[in-house]
Amino acid sequence: VKPISVGLLGLGTVGSGVVKIIENHQDKLSHQVGCPVKIKKVLVRDLYKERGVKIDAHLLTTDVNEVINDPEIDVVIEVMGGIEETRRHLLNALRNGKHVVTANKDLMALYGSELLTVASENHCDLFYEASVAGGIPILRSLVDGLASDRITKMMGIVNGTTNFILTKMCKYGAPYEEVLAEAQALGYAEADPTSDVEGLDAARKMAILARLGFSMNIDLDDVQVKGITEITEEDLNYSKRLGYTMKLIGIAHRDGDKVEVSVQPTLLPDSHPLASVNDEFNAVYVYGEAVGETMFYGPGAGSLPTATAVVSDLVAVMKNMRLGVNGRNAVAPQYAKRLKSPCE
Ligand code: NAP
Ligand code: HSE
Repeated sequence: VKPISVGLLGLGTVGSGVVKIIENHQDKLSHQVGCPVKIKKVLVRDLYKERGVKIDAHLLTTDVNEVINDPEIDVVIEVMGGIEETRRHLLNALRNGKHVVTANKDLMALYGSELLTVASENHCDLFYEASVAGGIPILRSLVDGLASDRITKMMGIVNGTTNFILTKMCKYGAPYEEVLAEAQALGYAEADPTSDVEGLDAARKMAILARLGFSMNIDLDDVQVKGITEITEEDLNYSKRLGYTMKLIGIAHRDGDKVEVSVQPTLLPDSHPLASVNDEFNAVYVYGEAVGETMFYGPGAGSLPTATAVVSDLVAVMKNMRLGVNGRNAVAPQYAKRLKSPCE
């Protein structure tokens, strides 16, 4: 049986997790799609770096064309980060007929609409579950699990690094710089952690959530953002004495055609469920007119949790490839022809 060939852009925190899951869960992956999954090429910057994962040296390359122009590669998984250069690579990959899975919220928040259009024009899948809330399958839940409802509000903790920092500062009085360095060492923070601590990473995720949840075009510039850099240990101690916990909270709210999206440090009563979401964990409340209140909770950053979301997207792509369809919940053409509108 011919394997599905994957090209990986990036072999850092998330990329290493993707390699491990493809190797360790190969049986389950191939059982679901009827053929094995093989990593054919991996783009890195430094061919000689020590890596926390075993990989054949001959798979590594510093030339992106060896991945996105390889006719044998079916799916490109982008876990390298970055915006402009990465956008060009993914546009080229899609125009070459490659399906794309990405964990890149910076890119999807800014260029998601362009990339999705090019994917659709080229009959390719473009899935990005890992871009929001790491291992929590929140995007799937919005477009699939809550497809019948009208979502009015989403609220929660969507950045693992800042939640890790606030938790350690508040619970153990650890100094900000020290905990930030720990979050970086654990692989939670972005390559430039400014986007974490200044709230931009959370803003990008809230924009993606709001677009999917409200089916509206949300401009990132319209998201109000304030990060955690001005919060002091004294602020946290004082709020603790009053029975409050500080969290970086994202809110997206719809009222008719009007949408407001914001990210800001917020004092929550200790009894609030979000107050006990600690460390790198994330949690998102989704309110629907019919369902009422739902809450999604899980690890929001880190190698294996994030890679789970990436590889689950890969499985969705492979299932579509087997049926010859694209998109979430797509119907195979041979069945689509037989489908009648339920109104007929
Ligand atoms: P990372 O540890 O810094 O890894 C980035 C990888 O990409 C490295 O292997 C690096 O190569 C390679 N790379 C970067 N720029 C490159 C370039 N110009 N040319 C060739 N290779 C390049 O990053 P990460 O934490 O895995 O994050 C990757 C993506 O996933 C980002 O978009 C991030 O926002 C997203 N994400 C991360 C997490 C998380 O918990 N870390 C969670 C969700 C989403 P070298 O190894 O040779 O330097
Ligand atoms: N830097 C991000 C965070 C990674 O801390 O939430 C997950 O998107």
